[in-house]
Amino acid sequence: MDFLELAKSRWSVRKFKPQQISSEELEQILLAGKYAPTAVNYQPQKIYILKSKEAMEKINSVCKCVFGAPMAILVAYDKERAWRCPFDGHLSGDVDVGIVATHMVMKAWEMGIGTCFVEHFDPEDVKKIFNLPENEKVVLLLPIGYPANDAEPLMKLHGTFREKEDVVKTL
Ligand SMILES: Cc1cc2nc3c(=O)[nH]c(=O)nc-3n(C[C@H](O)[C@H](O)[C@H](O)COP(=O)(O)O)c2cc1C
Repeated sequence: MDFLELAKSRWSVRKFKPQQISSEELEQILLAGKYAPTAVNYQPQKIYILKSKEAMEKINSVCKCVFGAPMAILVAYDKERAWRCPFDGHLSGDVDVGIVATHMVMKAWEMGIGTCFVEHFDPEDVKKIFNLPENEKVVLLLPIGYPANDAEPLMKLHGTFREKEDVVKTL
């Protein structure tokens, strides 16, 4: 599909079929993430696949936005690997993993697999339940799976866009 058509057609899936995506499909999605650019190509991302019943129970215990997905991808980064901007000192990790996650979300959508970007959790809770290293920052959760037959976009959130004139300024 043409990229603009793909981007326009995507919506956040919040209702899933119970079966997990295949390992081949998961590999394709991970490959799309692998090819994402990162600052200085430092690739600080850390990707955790939540697949087991135990892992899904854990994430459901600290996040209300898993939406019954049979699997989820947790996107984090290593703060010691991320590029630091010499001008204001910020780490590029949040931007890097946003791009990695977007590549994965769009590849999934191309294959008919639904996801939703989720930030509504306390990253420290997530680190604690999965015993993640101190130097990692958890940024996003992507519940992932085949959209339920009656899944639909949340119309109060989806499909309205600010006018170009309001967003884009040519200087
Ligand atoms: C960085 C980011 C964080 C988000 N966090 C959540 C979340 O915690 N819970 C949720 O239901 N949706 C979340 N969303 C989904 C947005 O609400 C959704 O993408 C937006 O309303 C547009 O709707 P659409 O994706 O269906 O087009 C998040 C999206 C982004 C990009």
